[in-house]
Amino acid sequence: MYISGPVVGENFINRQKILADLERHAAQRQYCCLIGLRRTGKTSVMIKAMDNLPPEWLSCYFNVQTSIAVPEQFATTYIGSILFWVLHRQGLADEASLPQFFDLLYAQRQALQLDSRTVDEYLLEVANVLERREINYSQILQLAFNFPQALTDALDRPVAVFIDEFQDIVQMDAYGLETLKLFRSITQMQSAWYCLAGSSISLLNSLVNNKESPLYGQYRTYLVGGFDLEAARELITRQVGHALPEPIIQIIYEFTGGYPFYLAVVAGATAAAVQGGEVDEDAVIAAIVNEVCSPAGTIATHCRQVFNTMLRMATQSTVSRQVMYYLSHNEPDTAAGVARYVGRSADFIRQILQKMVETDLLTYQNRRYSITDPVLAFWLRKSYFDIEVNPLAQIHLEETKRRLTQELRQEILSS
Ligand SMILES: Nc1ncnc2c1ncn2[C@@H]1O[C@H](COP(=O)(O)OP(=O)(O)O)[C@@H](O)[C@H]1O
Ligand SMILES: [Mg+2]
Repeated sequence: MYISGPVVGENFINRQKILADLERHAAQRQYCCLIGLRRTGKTSVMIKAMDNLPPEWLSCYFNVQTSIAVPEQFATTYIGSILFWVLHRQGLADEASLPQFFDLLYAQRQALQLDSRTVDEYLLEVANVLERREINYSQILQLAFNFPQALTDALDRPVAVFIDEFQDIVQMDAYGLETLKLFRSITQMQSAWYCLAGSSISLLNSLVNNKESPLYGQYRTYLVGGFDLEAARELITRQVGHALPEPIIQIIYEFTGGYPFYLAVVAGATAAAVQGGEVDEDAVIAAIVNEVCSPAGTIATHCRQVFNTMLRMATQSTVSRQVMYYLSHNEPDTAAGVARYVGRSADFIRQILQKMVETDLLTYQNRRYSITDPVLAFWLRKSYFDIEVNPLAQIHLEETKRRLTQELRQEILSS
């Protein structure tokens, strides 16, 4: 079973409610937006939803991170991807040929299979705009954003457009564009249906739900979060190959917050720890020590990458790091409480906390700040601020693991 990248087929578990909602909203052309931390299963839901739509639909997928955020490159990859999916759905394009469609000439040649003069002329116009010495960025983006609708009209079939990591689209504002305004003005009149997704919870949320945003009021937001206990049990059982004792499932569920990626890794490593023998508490602890606490672990690697990326985005990274140290070792606290620990004024800290909420490191609730991802908090406390900064702990890794195992056993037994 996969632990990274979207899951398909029988590996896909749960999410029935959101899938049913998406299908209903597609029929009504109610645009949707899926929001969730990295690896919570947004792309998996999108791919599943593409297949779930009734057969007359032509479902297309585009990940904004496929293109570097330069308007002409965005336009060619966007148009190429959408064309690829429309052909692929009809058995006219091979799965592996997607990247070739990013080349407009290739896309134009493949489009001939659709036998539509409208589409051919549309692509010709795109080519003409791109050939000018001074490319009109606004014009090329408008052509890109309008392409799904052009296909809907030309082929007389409903088109669904799934745009992943949508928040990155605003990077094109660097070219003097108001990308969101443009996107809205083109898409609001369409009969194509849009479903967006992205990993920046705060940013994407503000893009679709802030009154000042051009997209305000157009999108139904869905939070793609952790699984409930029942779905978690199913994922664990599938990952391990057989049912585990209920107390073990409880421990894994609580530790992972039900997030499917963490569930998959911990369950898989737990099964591996006993090599076919009986799964007990010690096996779960061994899995956590290996995957979360040890620097080479799958979850440790993921957390480090996420943390470094987020820290780079937050301002005042030294102070941010202190804040993360404090909150990973303590209960959620107010700005005043955090300020006291860091030794700075509450006003100064409040600004930094705000930025950290914007990068999803922290969540603000009931006037208190806490670390958004429970596993990241654990990794910070038990690995990052403990082992990764301490060369001796790494040199004597076996000893360190023994210590951690003991600490975890106590923590789990006392909870
Ligand atoms: N519905 C699901 N069923 C089973 N596992 C899932 C599901 N959704 C996510 N996962 C697990 O999480 C990982 C990341 O999923 P992905 O869809 O790529 O997340 P995202 O797009 O939010 O980053 C998958 O590789 C898989 O291990
Ligand atoms: Mg994804």
